[in-house]
Amino acid sequence: HEEFTKVKNIATIELGRYEIETWYFSPFPPEYNDCLKLYFCEFCLNFMKRKEQLQRHMRKCDLKHPPGDEIYRSGTLSMFEVDGKKNKVYGQNLCYLAKLFLDHKTLYYDVDLFLFYILCECDERGCHMVGYFSKEKHSEESYNLACILTLPPYQRKGYGKFLIAFSYELSKKENKVGTPERPLSDLGLLSYRGYWTRVLLDILKKHKGNISIKELSDMTAIKSEDILSTLQSLELIQYRKGQHVICADPKVLDRHLKAAGRGGLEVDVSKLIWTPYK
Ligand code: COA
Ligand code: NA
Repeated sequence: HEEFTKVKNIATIELGRYEIETWYFSPFPPEYNDCLKLYFCEFCLNFMKRKEQLQRHMRKCDLKHPPGDEIYRSGTLSMFEVDGKKNKVYGQNLCYLAKLFLDHKTLYYDVDLFLFYILCECDERGCHMVGYFSKEKHSEESYNLACILTLPPYQRKGYGKFLIAFSYELSKKENKVGTPERPLSDLGLLSYRGYWTRVLLDILKKHKGNISIKELSDMTAIKSEDILSTLQSLELIQYRKGQHVICADPKVLDRHLKAAGRGGLEVDVSKLIWTPYK
């Protein structure tokens, strides 16, 4: 267990059209220790020390999108599913890249055990990664998301909410409830709280009559514990006669919904073509 703080090595990366300042240490192989800047191929995510190497690589690399299956396409937005076992190097490259923006996640587990969902904005030059989330193929703890990242140039535009919504749409297709792996970062928790609040309060607003946490969980694939903690933090739960009761005064709901911010980019479920991993 390493308790000391590691010093950030790579200060900037080049990825597609962007030069991005990094946030945290990432354990690149030792031969990259002396590098301040790394050059990534935006499609296969191979990284290089020098711009000329990248330029040479770009002439040979024939990928124009992440390696894997396109499972969602709506307008210019696409989602690709990459199996870490079939695309080991890609999975490892993605983990090195993601760690630059993730504080306390241990990312060095076996990529074989994970699926990676890569969100892209597509144009005539190809499909450009905007962000991703990873998911264990088999989770004992009903995790439906391990790591989530929106690359900094794309942050605060609703992509994070899209990725979270997408992870729950996959859970619904699996007929399972899901929850993100802990710990969540501050930004991760903010994004999840916003998502949970919006989804649950939208249902409570429309619903007539009583509704239980179990029913909410069945409708949304959000784990009961996350529903309870969200509603509790909004002070919408009362405890009466040994039971949790949800209070849903429309005015109160509207106030919370307003505070939860914009809905972000919608996932159009009719555009999701996917069968659960077996
Ligand atoms: N300051 C304050 N609130 C913020 C914020 C910031 N810098 N970034 C996100 N939020 C909150 C807001 O409530 C926002 O909703 P709003 O814009 O309607 O107010 C909500 O989170 C989600 O915004 P969204 O644009 O959908 O998310 P994003 O694309 O910026 O992605 C993360 C959110 C968490 C994926 C992104 O911040 C990220 O990649 N962070 C680094 C990696 C990380 O911490 N991952 C989570 C732990 S595994
Ligand atoms: Na984290």
